[in-house]
Amino acid sequence: MSDSTADHSTHLRTHMCGELRSANVGERVSVCGWVAARREHSQHLSFVDLRDHTGRVQCVVDGSVDVRSEYVLRVTGEVRAREDATINPNLATGEIELKHCSVEVLSVAEPPPFPLDDRTETDETIRLRHRYLDLRRDAMQRNLRTRATVNHAVRTAMTGQGFVEIETPMLIASTPEGARDFVVPSRLKPGSFYALPQSPQLFKQLCMVGGIDRYYQIARCLRDEDLRADRQFEFMQLDAEMSFASQDDVLSVITTTIRAVVAAVTGEQIGEIPTMTWLEAAERFGSDKPDVRFGLELVELTEVFSSTEFNAFKAPCVKGIRVPGGAEFTRSRLDDLTDRAKRWGAKGLVWMRVRGEAGAVELESPVAKFLSAEELASLASTLEAESGDLLLIVADERPRVRHVLGLLRLEIGRPPVNEGGLQFLWVVDFPLFEAIDEATGKPVSAHHPFTMPHADDLELLDGVVAGGDPTALLSVRSQAYDLVLNGWELGSGSVRIHRGDIQSKIFGLLGIGAAEAQSKFGFLLDAFRFGAPPHAGFAFGIDRLVALLVGEENIREVIAFPKTQSGSDPLTQAPTDIDPAQLAELGLRLLPRSAD
Ligand code: AMO
Ligand code: AMP
Repeated sequence: MSDSTADHSTHLRTHMCGELRSANVGERVSVCGWVAARREHSQHLSFVDLRDHTGRVQCVVDGSVDVRSEYVLRVTGEVRAREDATINPNLATGEIELKHCSVEVLSVAEPPPFPLDDRTETDETIRLRHRYLDLRRDAMQRNLRTRATVNHAVRTAMTGQGFVEIETPMLIASTPEGARDFVVPSRLKPGSFYALPQSPQLFKQLCMVGGIDRYYQIARCLRDEDLRADRQFEFMQLDAEMSFASQDDVLSVITTTIRAVVAAVTGEQIGEIPTMTWLEAAERFGSDKPDVRFGLELVELTEVFSSTEFNAFKAPCVKGIRVPGGAEFTRSRLDDLTDRAKRWGAKGLVWMRVRGEAGAVELESPVAKFLSAEELASLASTLEAESGDLLLIVADERPRVRHVLGLLRLEIGRPPVNEGGLQFLWVVDFPLFEAIDEATGKPVSAHHPFTMPHADDLELLDGVVAGGDPTALLSVRSQAYDLVLNGWELGSGSVRIHRGDIQSKIFGLLGIGAAEAQSKFGFLLDAFRFGAPPHAGFAFGIDRLVALLVGEENIREVIAFPKTQSGSDPLTQAPTDIDPAQLAELGLRLLPRSAD
């Protein structure tokens, strides 16, 4: 973190542009920076606004001055108070200016390909192509400096809680985080590859076996997955692991760290972070990362329609949401919502406009005629419908109903990223398995295969191992937990399996045979045979946290040199071809490229 009170003077400057104030009047100062604006008032008088990362200052030159935008200058002059009429209240240095300036051109500059003020939108590819210019903009300066503040606060908080910073390797064997690996060919062992770490997961667990007790790292992780607003190939995690610790111990450490970070960035003290079970999140918000900044919660209606004649509602689960004021939605908006619901997997979407008086509301809908008076009344009261509302109802298998209504809720009500404050939430008691793979009949891990099942649900596992119905696995809870912020998954962690017998059972259920387990994670399983302490850990995404703290929708805005959505870097042109000699040395030969 850079300390704004630090002395920034060098042999070329005495002050930073943005720090000069009325208190400096009368001082002779030198400042360095870039020309933000230049106005020639007359042959005898010119103004240059000089900018560095702290702000800008107006420099008055007696005569004309041969400089252009983005020239790099050293300006020496005397600080004087501006006349009242020329005070600029929008500028931190607006009460002063530098007079009788001498100007030294340190570098000339070509005209920048886009304006560097924050008022104009520039195409992102052009910004990234010239990222070094883009970084001069106030918003990028703020974002990167906030990021440094976050890293610093994380280090201080983790160190303060007894965690030891340890660097784990970048060239490794694959980690089981579930994304595709980036691989690096080995020159010394042609035909073999290193994987770049998807996370330090296995190494941090080895650190626990190694008696480190409390490990942390601000770790670079690499995952070859499709890029989105909240996903880059490379990203940073605060990664932590602790021994002899429970889920509550981890939650407490991470909460302390998050609070320290928020305080460092915003000056605010956030309260305790509330906890919600995965099941409650799924039922009320239709999501495992609920955005609790707004209502529109999912309401259970299965009972209301338990003996309905309406075919569409003869389903294992019916739920609805009430949209206050939504009766005004146009027909085309409702059609659009219906189309979306279908794209998300629903068979259809029932909508109802609520009309009438309090206590005697009427539900207006093309399907109202298929529902009994009791059903309509019970629906209205269960959803607490009021005149002017819109009701949206989906019937289907329970997971699908949650999924579709959860997305509709976001579509209709989600506030912009920088509104509604910072609503952190712990989501606990995740299921151990997220689904049963139809092709293989095997369960799929919801987190990673080292996650400890909930102690109370071990019997369910045993039942399936003994030949019981595998769908029982879907109700096995795990000791895995997520941290959610404004509907973004900020981090995940779990209590780990440190006992060989439970681990073998899980591998068996996942269909990972002893030989495969040994070849993939043998080193970890071996380590566990030599005395593994019970341990648990967590990792949260630094990029995501910084983005939400500064109110950016896309993590690219808080990364100095990010990749575009298509995974390329317009600045360096990466990824690029490599030299045939380099390929040969690595023992690689390229297949002909498919026509594209
Ligand atoms: P997980 O895979 O959930 O857990 O990752 C933890 C957090 O890292 C961030 N993150 C990303 N950020 C930007 N771009 C990406 N492509 C990306 N992928 C993940 C998210 C996410 O919540 N080893 C476990 C942690 C543990 O169990 O201790 C892990 O990596 O904010
Ligand atoms: P249908 O019986 O398919 O003509 O559908 C009648 C109405 O019910 C349409 O408005 C559909 O969008 C809606 N609908 C159909 N199936 C479902 C469902 N499973 N959940 C909610 N609405 C549905």
